[in-house]
Amino acid sequence: MKHYLSLKDIDSLPEWVAEARKLKTNPKAHKQLGDGKTICLLFFNNSLRTRLSTQKAAMNLGMDVMVMNFGNEGWQLEYEDGAIMDQGKSEHIKEAAKVVSQFCDIVAIRAFASLTDKEKDEAEVVLNGFIRHASIPVVNMESSVGHPLQALADAITLEEHKTKTKLKVVLSWAPHPKALPHAVANSFIEMMQLQDAEFVITHPKGYELSPEITKGTKIEYDQKKACENADFIYVKNWSSYTDYGKVLNENKLWMMTAEKLDKAKFMHCLPVRRNVVVEDAVLDSGQSLVIEQANNRTYAAQVVLKKLLEHN
Ligand code: CP
Repeated sequence: MKHYLSLKDIDSLPEWVAEARKLKTNPKAHKQLGDGKTICLLFFNNSLRTRLSTQKAAMNLGMDVMVMNFGNEGWQLEYEDGAIMDQGKSEHIKEAAKVVSQFCDIVAIRAFASLTDKEKDEAEVVLNGFIRHASIPVVNMESSVGHPLQALADAITLEEHKTKTKLKVVLSWAPHPKALPHAVANSFIEMMQLQDAEFVITHPKGYELSPEITKGTKIEYDQKKACENADFIYVKNWSSYTDYGKVLNENKLWMMTAEKLDKAKFMHCLPVRRNVVVEDAVLDSGQSLVIEQANNRTYAAQVVLKKLLEHN
């Protein structure tokens, strides 16, 4: 594995989950592996969990860590070949990626979708700019289209909390006042497509995700019906994909409640808006796995970094 960019870079999800769970029992077991190696975390967008868990994972492996809030503190980057840079952008990705490659052994990038230009978002301009011009492995810490570290942590959490072999898992849209990207939902769907489970997506009409992601996955527009007899309900808002980046619906009836959750476990990637996306009674109950999902971000990142250190 040269890079970790999407779920497609996982050769065996069950093996990676098992390895992450083993790392969780002894996080410092491989602390010699990263000795003398440096990871650089570049954030073009805000973060709490991704920043701290990836840093923690790297430290567990004995790596040095450099973190830069590139969006606020870096030079504005130009990504187009042949651009005449006489406007606001001060540095080209060609130089920036090569310079970063001199200082570290792995670079991890967070660069969200703009939600204004579907074509540019799907081209993953920032992530692909680094892949093209950096000479070191690149890790996706949430790009326009995917959040594969989150999905790997979610797979670990599902495995830890499942009580039977054939699960019913639901991905439910929920309301949110702001337009949010599709990345978490996309990667969760791709991860669930690798599982032997009954998997249902529920959302209001107009919130269909890319058919290239959902493929044949069942979509049920009646949320209550979708949630019946679920073992796990993963809740996430996303903006419209067809009417790109628009908030079409703020219907409060789509908020996750204890009644709709029934006996299922509740999952969300965080951050979450209480009593908008999900009511307090769910988040404050023993059925909520959100803190454990966040904890598992460390071991998801650690298994990824371990494999990159071993193979590069
Ligand atoms: N779930 C997640 O990626 O959290 P942050 O945005 O805080 O990193």
